[in-house]
Amino acid sequence: MTDPQIVLTERVQQALARAFGQEHADADPLIRPSQFADFQANVAMSLAKRLRRAPREVAEAIKTELSDFPGTIEVSGPGFLNITLDDSWIESEATRMLADPRLGVGTITPSQTVVIDYSAPNAAKEMHVGHLRTTIVGDSLARLHEHLGNTVIRQNHLGDWGTPFGMLIEHLLEIGEEAAVAQLEAGQGTEFYQAARAKFDSDDAFRQRARVRVTTLQSGDAETMRLWHVFMDATVRYFNKVYQLLGVTLTDADLAGESMYNPMLQKTCDDLEAAGTAVISDGALCVFPPGFTGSDDKPLPLIIRKSDGGYGYATTDMAAIRYRVHDLKAERILYVVGNEQALHFRMVFAAARLAGWLPDSVSAEHVQIGMMLGKDGRRFKTRSGESVKLMDLLQEAVDRATAAIADRGYDEATTKEIAHAVGMGAVKYADLSVSHDSEYVLDFDRMISFTGNTGPYMQYATARIRSIFRKAGVAPAEATGPIVLAAPAERALGLQLLGFGELVSQVTTESEPHRLCNFLFQTASLFSTFYDECPVTKEGVDPETRQHRLALCKLVLDVLEKGLDLLGVPVPERM
Ligand code: ARG
Repeated sequence: MTDPQIVLTERVQQALARAFGQEHADADPLIRPSQFADFQANVAMSLAKRLRRAPREVAEAIKTELSDFPGTIEVSGPGFLNITLDDSWIESEATRMLADPRLGVGTITPSQTVVIDYSAPNAAKEMHVGHLRTTIVGDSLARLHEHLGNTVIRQNHLGDWGTPFGMLIEHLLEIGEEAAVAQLEAGQGTEFYQAARAKFDSDDAFRQRARVRVTTLQSGDAETMRLWHVFMDATVRYFNKVYQLLGVTLTDADLAGESMYNPMLQKTCDDLEAAGTAVISDGALCVFPPGFTGSDDKPLPLIIRKSDGGYGYATTDMAAIRYRVHDLKAERILYVVGNEQALHFRMVFAAARLAGWLPDSVSAEHVQIGMMLGKDGRRFKTRSGESVKLMDLLQEAVDRATAAIADRGYDEATTKEIAHAVGMGAVKYADLSVSHDSEYVLDFDRMISFTGNTGPYMQYATARIRSIFRKAGVAPAEATGPIVLAAPAERALGLQLLGFGELVSQVTTESEPHRLCNFLFQTASLFSTFYDECPVTKEGVDPETRQHRLALCKLVLDVLEKGLDLLGVPVPERM
């Protein structure tokens, strides 16, 4: 383990055990970054109270036990331990990290099976910006878990079933299969839906046919199922175009839409009813998980079968959670879904625990996604008040990226390639860099900017390191250690890099990709300072120094590239 904070924690804990007895071996040494040293340990103050001794005396005792520590320790103030690591320790750890293909990132043992439910657009409607964030955050979580050695099962819980499909299929028949497919593949699902809806509202005969169609669909009639497949396949082809554009790792193998659970719904209800977990209330079959009450103080129902006998969103989610635990053998399930569904998921999880379908050993977590807002602070919409098409938004990002790099003199093909990476990188990074449960303002000017905590800035930082290597006439792979940290800016950068492995683990466990963004941003900023203060390729830099600095550059490059890869942000070779 290279992370200085972890190393310190362990060392101080050992010192505590030696000085005050084994019972203190697990005490939190309260290691924090310090203004006066690399870190400070604040444990002496809290421990002194318990031991009824003077804090400074306790601090001195800890210090004595740390005499073999690779750094200097000073007792200051009321009993802080100010800790400064030896340069040689940071250097040898950084050199080791450079030679480590995993860059100090560990693997989780034992590894877990993690089901990640994300993206999940609705087929009857256009995939809109709201699904963008769950797609991007979910995909990053999938990449992170896989990198730590977990088995990830992606589940794209498409909205591909329900009563609207009656009118959608009837509309498809009226305009002809070919025309319908073309429209859906082109991403005009909303227009398709609206046209069907308009007829449903105004034309009695159409409405009648649509209703009959719902019944034949539910009964599994072969021709109706074929038409449903025509509709769905075209829609999924469009979703796949979006995923491909975004560089999202979802494939058809990850499709597990609502329709997949149809054959399980009756049994889901029967089993819950037979076990007494669900009861009939006002004609509907409901689970009343303890602890949920409505505004009237009455227990709140999770309705799993409506009074007309129909199944709903909650029924499917009850079937899905059982399937994920029982069949997929999930040990952890992440639902990356908008925060407006928080109550739904709390109730589903509670109901599943009640039913015994979600044992305590399995954690189910709603990774809440905050709403995307326009610059006006309202829900992101077009001028005319419609929700914004994802494709239009992505196209705008690419257009803006193209404009931003227009003056760089690249040929058309290269410009296209870079603009694509910059545009997608900007959108994705903007989504990821804000804590996933906060609202987030979609602001093109900000996200496409080459300064600040943005995708283009991070991409630029990596491209700049690559260009240093080009200037040096050295391939990055040829830059090897040792890393030597002579200047303060080098030392600060080295110390920062050592935290990468532990940070990646934490970010994964806590589902917080935005902290990885912060880390990479800090790293890029420290790199910038380093590069200002420590010339690498300039004339007059002695060959040895140059080699040490190139090695440090290489480690930064590796960390930035790996970090961006884990976020799913593409990195163009040059910018
Ligand atoms: N299709 C749903 C929506 O757009 C999201 C589904 C999330 N996953 C789930 N298991 N309910 O709101």
